Amino acid sequence: MKSLVILISGRGSNMQALLEAEFRIDRITVISNNPQAEGLILARKYGVKTMALDHRSFPDREAFDTALAKKIDACQPKLIALAGFMRILSNRFVQHYQGRLMNIHPSLLPAFPGLKTHARVLQEGIRIHGCTVHFVTLQLDHGPIVIQAAIPVLPNETEKSLAARVLQQEHRIYPQAVRWFMEDRIRLIGNHAEIIDSSSSETVLYSPGLPK
Ligand code: GRF
Repeated sequence: MKSLVILISGRGSNMQALLEAEFRIDRITVISNNPQAEGLILARKYGVKTMALDHRSFPDREAFDTALAKKIDACQPKLIALAGFMRILSNRFVQHYQGRLMNIHPSLLPAFPGLKTHARVLQEGIRIHGCTVHFVTLQLDHGPIVIQAAIPVLPNETEKSLAARVLQQEHRIYPQAVRWFMEDRIRLIGNHAEIIDSSSSETVLYSPGLPK
């Protein structure tokens, strides 16, 4: 049985993109560290099983991560997809799921790890920005890159307009990465992720170019 666990903290638009994608997955479970996450309500509309595990009710990170891992393991997931999960994970947690823990990050990694990526891109006057799906390793926002989408930073761009255009691309690349994983088509070689048997219509870099 192929099971997927999606971890969220907030609105859950990437989670929604995954729920709308056509995968051959038998069971999807959405877990949030924030019981008030809008994404939980959204997930229920899709008839998906949801769980909330409030990190504030645990004495420390280790205790929360241990409880979270227990819930995840009960689902026997093939893949755990972080989709706006705003918690730093302990080393033990990351090691436990090595090679089956994915994340979507709103920048072209390894540039701009961390938060406020769009504002930092604008501040630096960078002309190209985007998003990355990668495997999670012990180094924050690092790890083998599966797929990226690159977009131009337009004149008069604002943080909001840039975030919205990057998000559109996130919704495009995350389902693709998860599909490849579920089809056993990602081979990890050191710090590189290789896509096995990719057809000409598949790409590891989407680049929509300048708007017409
Ligand atoms: C996305 O920009 C994602 O890349 C980042 O957090 C945001 C989550 O948005 N990790 P959503 O909850 O998926 O709408």
